[in-house]
Parts: sequence; C-alpha cells; structure tokens
Amino acid sequence: MKKLRLRYLGDPILRKKARKLDKVTPSVRETVEAMWDLMEKSKGIGLAAPQAGLSQRIIVVDTREDGEQYALINPEIVWASDVCSPLSEGCLSIPGVEAEVIRPSHVRVKGSNIQGKEIEIEAKDLLAKVMQHEIDHLNGVLFIDRLEDREKEKIQPELDRFEAPVSA
Ligand code: NI
Repeated sequence: MKKLRLRYLGDPILRKKARKLDKVTPSVRETVEAMWDLMEKSKGIGLAAPQAGLSQRIIVVDTREDGEQYALINPEIVWASDVCSPLSEGCLSIPGVEAEVIRPSHVRVKGSNIQGKEIEIEAKDLLAKVMQHEIDHLNGVLFIDRLEDREKEKIQPELDRFEAPVSA
C-alpha cells in the first residue's frame, strides 16, 4: 500500500488548488485506500488528498453514521441550501484547534466513485459539513478562512504556533 503522511498548517500544499483527475486508474484506487488508512489511523471523519501530500481532487469521508462512507474523485458542490448553521469544526492538518464555522446545512455533491461512476449525494447535517470542509481543501481553503473575526481572534495564538517561521 502507498504510504502517506499528514501535512500540517504551514505546508504550502494545503494552499494549492488540487489537480482534477482524468480517470479513476488503479493508482487512484490505491491512493484512496491509503487515504482511508491514514484517516482511520488519525481518527478523522474526512480527509482530502492535499492533506496527505497529494495535489489531486480526491476526498474520503466517514461520519461514523451508517451509509455515510464515501470516497469521491473530482467532487463538486452542485447545490447548497440558503439555510446555514454553525458547527464546531476541527481539521487533521490543524490538530488541537477547533472553532465554530457557519455553512449551508444541506448540499448536493457530485463526483466519481472509485469505479469511475458519476454519483450524486444528498448531504445533510454533519455529512453536509464534512463534504464542504473536504471540498474546500481541494481549493486550498481551510476552515480557519471561514471564521467570523471574533472566532478567528480567539484561535489566532494557536494558529501562530503552526505558521511561525522556524528560527535558525
Ligand atoms: Ni480539514
């Protein structure tokens, strides 16, 4: 199996727009398998390929609810509700930091499954939030970019720890 390791805030790959995949090849399936493994080991409920050092449009999601396990290639949000709700979010790439993010409560997501078949997912509540969080990663966007000023201020000291330049 491919060996992947987590990338943390400050790693430039997290800020890059990830590349779209033309086809779901055996190599892509191997990547998905390695991402599942990394997500499970890290006890996450979602992981995007850039967090594992790969600039490719792949996400894996497991909310721990029955039937809410997905691996998606080139996922896209095709509809989002006007209704939004807050949720305290964290990220495997910013360990120990949590803050409240307001996002649409309900979205529809399109993408390919690992068989290369186009699927559409109706996502509500936690699943909707995780899908949006992971798809943001593919565009170089982190949950800390979506905080209201007051929330951002609260966690800024913790963020500074990650992005502080290493002194010689
Ligand atoms: Ni994340």
